[in-house]
Amino acid sequence: MSKQEIIICSNLRDDLERIISSHKFDKLFILTDNHTYRYCLPVIKDIPAVENATDITIGVEDVNKTLETLAYVWLKLSNSEATRRSLMINLGGGMVTDLGGFAAATFKRGISFINIPTTLLSMVDAAVGGKTGINFNGLKNEIGAFAPASEVIIDSEFLKTSDYENIISGYAEMIKHGLISTDENWKELIKFNFDNEIDYKSLQNLISKSVGIKENVVEQDPYEKGIRKSLNLGHTIGHAFESFSLKNESPILHGYAVAWGLVCELYLSHIKCSFPIEKLKSTVTFIKEHYGKLYFSCKDYDKLYEFMTHDKKNESSDSINFTLLSDIGEININQIVSKDDIFDSLDFYCETMG
Ligand code: GLY
Repeated sequence: MSKQEIIICSNLRDDLERIISSHKFDKLFILTDNHTYRYCLPVIKDIPAVENATDITIGVEDVNKTLETLAYVWLKLSNSEATRRSLMINLGGGMVTDLGGFAAATFKRGISFINIPTTLLSMVDAAVGGKTGINFNGLKNEIGAFAPASEVIIDSEFLKTSDYENIISGYAEMIKHGLISTDENWKELIKFNFDNEIDYKSLQNLISKSVGIKENVVEQDPYEKGIRKSLNLGHTIGHAFESFSLKNESPILHGYAVAWGLVCELYLSHIKCSFPIEKLKSTVTFIKEHYGKLYFSCKDYDKLYEFMTHDKKNESSDSINFTLLSDIGEININQIVSKDDIFDSLDFYCETMG
């Protein structure tokens, strides 16, 4: 997979003008959702390089990350006579960058695209690393492809139109990056102050470090054969929480599911790999204070377990594959965990988060 250039912006308009001019293309498309069309597109629409772009706008949020929406984007590209030399900008959160990336990667066997993530979640995770796709058959990101954007342009200014829930949701992926990197980074993250007005300059600094951690992992293992699985920390149980909530028609933000998944998976790390108890407690305290709790009871454990068996990372349908830690930055991939231990971790969740 080719390497994508990550630009942490100091001046979005200048950076975007320069990057677009560096591409050779015949037609330019900008994919937005209803929210970014209204709040983010105006920030870039009058830049000379963007002025003649064709807008494609899709519905907001994960419920629209479907085959129907994908077909709509393909149709728009086709009806607007996009060619293999066309360029697409995906301006939005993870749904837009994932679906837009997949649309671009498959249209005429692939056109170039630039990601401009506008949510914290997409800045530190979705837009970086080349995973694209859609939900299918009730399962998250079931269909997709590895296809890197040529550039990812990150500007924390966009976060000023984001609500607290979406910021804290993205922050869960940053905590995950802290956990798989260094004590210093992890400590900095769980000390960050969300009680008063957010200090966007400090946040941008943490974002830059977080993206660097992800980039480094993706560079070593772009197709997730080994160390990239470390990025799945918190996600095996997190995805089950997400699917469970969706099924109950009370969808939750991805990062909340990851944060709650981290509680369970750090507990598993503690019992299976001796992850230090104090670091488990400090992380759980931060999560409890900032994310609250997802309610479920032991009657739901079998359903949650069933969702875990669908996880793409499993090598067979009867074993569940985890990434666990022996300490901050000490990563153990491909850990098979028994059903009993998983149920224990759900007990731990219910007792500590209660
Ligand atoms: N979101 C995990 C990864 O990009 O591998």
